[in-house]
Formats: sequence, structure tokens, C-alpha cells
Amino acid sequence: MSKIKHVAIIMDGNGRWANQRLRPRIWGHVRGSAVVSQIVQAANDFDLKALTLYAFSTENWSRPLEEVSTLFKLLKKFLEKEKKRIIENNIKFKVIGEIENLPKQTINLINEIESLTSNATGLNLTFAFSYGGRAEILRAVNNFTTQNPGKALTEQDINSLMYRPETGDVDLMIRTGGEHRVSNFLLWQMAYSELYFTPTKWPDFTYNEFEKILEKVANRERRFGNVSSQSGLIDSSERAEANRTNFMKGTITDV
Ligand code: IPE
Ligand code: IPE
Ligand code: MG
Repeated sequence: MSKIKHVAIIMDGNGRWANQRLRPRIWGHVRGSAVVSQIVQAANDFDLKALTLYAFSTENWSRPLEEVSTLFKLLKKFLEKEKKRIIENNIKFKVIGEIENLPKQTINLINEIESLTSNATGLNLTFAFSYGGRAEILRAVNNFTTQNPGKALTEQDINSLMYRPETGDVDLMIRTGGEHRVSNFLLWQMAYSELYFTPTKWPDFTYNEFEKILEKVANRERRFGNVSSQSGLIDSSERAEANRTNFMKGTITDV
């Protein structure tokens, strides 16, 4: 499990879970929110460095008002209920996304928990709320160009201008609910992440399934474009640079 440091989860399937039980969609959200604490606990127990949870996308604003407001209420309830445990477990908490439109009280609560945990050294727990991957990249680019007119951006610049730079690239993205798509989640940070799709709908997702997924993925080989993680004695980026230079100098001609 050691190589997986940052896990991101798309918590999907609440509505269908409820519909299958002939209940309104919001019932699925209520049951789904109860699962979140268990999964945070698991990430903490497994010594992950970061856990990023997708709770509400920029596109989810288009849902019926009743559903949107239920999701806001559940966020607030979760924060009130978990505040103490987050602090006790040395968890560093942050919400990423365009949260300006959330109710004032919720924003205050988010600010309070973020500042109370700003020196925590344990799990970096992130809630993506009113979050969109494209919006995050655009925000970074716009911030940069405003500060540095005319200058070209580097990957490092974009990394450092993400909402939460310290969590870095995603090692594993899990999506519950059976759909095989990324739905505008952490587009920049997932460039090389492992993807795992489970048919389990979010309200049925458990500590045990999470643990099993981590075990399975730990056995996958991540090659990052190279031929094998064991290949070569020199560092991948050094070899890439050497290959490029040789091609440019014409040392290597037609093959
Ligand atoms: C995920 O469950 C929660 C949010 C997107 C807020 P859904 O509400 O998307 O549930 P399904 O996908 O319709 O079953
Ligand atoms: C993705 O789920 C967003 C969250 C889980 C917060 P959606 O249900 O909104 O995604 P689509 O519409 O199936 O792509
Ligand atoms: Mg969905």
C-alpha cells in the first residue's frame, strides 16, 4: 500500500441507490453522507497522505433546487459533526472549489475548521465542493497571467497554483456507482493516476472494500511512460532528457 499516497474518490450512485429502494434521491444523499466518516477513518488508518472527496461538482448546480440545498445542508451537518474528530485525529482539512456561493454560516464553519487544523501533520483531507477541474486550471492560468504578463507558464507554475498544491498528483482515483468517467474531477492532478471503477453505489461503499481496492492497486505496475518500473539504471527523466538531446544532435538518425 506504501506507494499510494493520494487517493481521490468520486462518491457517486446516491440517487440510484435510493431509487432502487423506492425512496427520493435525497435519501440516498443522507445515507451516503454517513459513509464519508468511515472512509476518512480508513484513510487515516491506512496512513494515506491525502484523501480528496468529490462531493459537489460545478455541473451539479444544475440539479433541482431541493437536491442542491439538501447537499449543502449535509455538508454543514457533516462539518458540525466531524469537527472534533478531525481535530483529534490531527487531520488537515480544506475545501476546494468555488465556495463563495455557499451559505455564509457554512463558509464560516469551513474557514474555522481550516484554520484550526492548519498546523496538523496527519491526513490531508480535502472536500471538493462546487469544484470543477477545468475551472481550477483556468483559475491557475488566469492568476499567473495577471501576475506575470507575457511570461510562459511551466508545469511547476500550474502545480503551485492549484487549490491545494501540497496534495500533489493523484495516485489512485476511485469512482463508485458504476460509471466509467472522470466528470471534471482533478483533471490536472490525474494525468498519471490509476483508475478504479466499482459498481458499488456510494451508500454501500465500506471500509473493507476501500482496503481491498488499495491492496489490488498496490500490485499494479505504474510505468509513467517508461517500459517498466525496473528498467534502466538511470532516472526516467534523465534518460528522457538524454534521448531528446541525442535526437536533436542527430546522434541518433533514422531507425
Ligand atoms: C453522487 O450521487 C452525489 C453527487 C453527485 C452530489 P448522484 O446524486 O450523482 O447519484 P446517481 O449517480 O444519480 O445515482
Ligand atoms: C460526479 O457525479 C460528481 C460527484 C460525485 C460530486 P455526477 O453524478 O454529477 O456525474 P455525471 O453527471 O454522472 O457525469
Ligand atoms: Mg451521479
